[in-house]
Amino acid sequence: MTLPEPSRRDTRLDTYVDAYAERTHGLTVSAVRALFAVANRPEVVSLAGGMPNIADLPREALGETVAKLIRDQGIQAMQYGSGQGELFMREKITEVMAEESIHAHPDDVVVSCGSQQALDLVTRVFCDPGDIVLAEAPSYVGALGTFAAYQTEVVHVAMDDDGIIPAALAHAVVTLRAAGRKVKFLYTIPNFQNPTGVTQSLERRRELVDVARQHDLLIVEDNPYGLLTLDDAPLPAIRSLDAENVVYLGSFSKTFAPGFRVGWALAPHAVREKLVLAQEAATLAPPVFSQFVISAYLDQFDWRGQIDTYRRMYRERREAMFTGLTENMPEGTTWTHPRGGFFVWVTLPEGLDSQAMLPRAVSARVAYVPGPAFYADGLGSRNMRVSFCFPTPERIIEGTRRLGEVIEGELDMIRTFGITATPETRPYLDQATGPAPDIS
Ligand SMILES: Cc1ncc(COP(=O)(O)O)c(C=O)c1O
Repeated sequence: MTLPEPSRRDTRLDTYVDAYAERTHGLTVSAVRALFAVANRPEVVSLAGGMPNIADLPREALGETVAKLIRDQGIQAMQYGSGQGELFMREKITEVMAEESIHAHPDDVVVSCGSQQALDLVTRVFCDPGDIVLAEAPSYVGALGTFAAYQTEVVHVAMDDDGIIPAALAHAVVTLRAAGRKVKFLYTIPNFQNPTGVTQSLERRRELVDVARQHDLLIVEDNPYGLLTLDDAPLPAIRSLDAENVVYLGSFSKTFAPGFRVGWALAPHAVREKLVLAQEAATLAPPVFSQFVISAYLDQFDWRGQIDTYRRMYRERREAMFTGLTENMPEGTTWTHPRGGFFVWVTLPEGLDSQAMLPRAVSARVAYVPGPAFYADGLGSRNMRVSFCFPTPERIIEGTRRLGEVIEGELDMIRTFGITATPETRPYLDQATGPAPDIS
């Protein structure tokens, strides 16, 4: 018997390599993710992940509610549903949004598989390859992944302690359009931004809305953390200031639990119709069972009280992070002081490189996300994101102690050799540019 000639493709690890669509070329797996496999070992304090801590949910009572739901309404709850999402769910969503001063009609809501999918649908509906999406500098890694998947180009807009700088936004829109580029929307996370923890002031929100109106620019407002405010009452959402120019994205992932994968988009009517068509093409319908469970939870449980419980728990962890950073960070290190959410953004002393330092940090049993993961253009090497949502306060303090020692070690190395990254770490870390989901 004669064996067929091996083709050129047979020598490759992935025999479909020539068959993939152009758009997959922007999808890179971050090498940082490989380190996270190590970072998730119990001896490592991970300040890297953005997982909410849902241990305080009333699981016994929820279990009974779900059992009853299956018994009494299982025939509908386990059936296909509406592409827009169930009406009872959309009505409840408008109640939740009222907490942040949004007055909306259930007709304008589209339920999605987490707000991540809503962002995917919005990008799918608006963006062609080569279009520009504006985003804060830095921005959410999962959003950068979505924008890359649709072959858009992300242009970052400068922010300060009050959020995006309106003049910088106007300048970006004008210059890009003058160069013939199509600027499709501004993607912004106004509350306790991922990754910086910065919140846009009310004044800034008003200014952004003005700039957007003036330049005919759509705002995509991503707000999964708004109700996890730890010091103040929630600020009015941007959408509450402008119903015409804003697509608002919300989620139950942080205020209830992420596993049900229920989020939503609230959009101007015409956009909403397009989003429903895109949702039907993508999933036929968002998860019906999850919508039944979440509606039952909102009806039968004290969900506002549960958010207060979350706030108390996250406040304690944030305080531990502030204390740990104050006690352990070497001179020259600075960080943001978020008033809610999950994240603190650290700026390292000059000369340090957060990517190059990560393997040494993981060896010292502490992990974080290096700054460049949050930029489409490779900036952020002096930054890192540390999260206070998941580890206990004691572990957070211990994590910052280990991190402080690693940074001290880097500073020592600079003082001695004038360099940080060792030759053997560089080639590996240079691959660590692509965004990866925020799930570790
Ligand atoms: C800013 C931001 N947007 C969206 C998401 C996705 O959330 P969801 O679970 O609703 O898909 C996250 C998750 O971490 C996030 O941080």
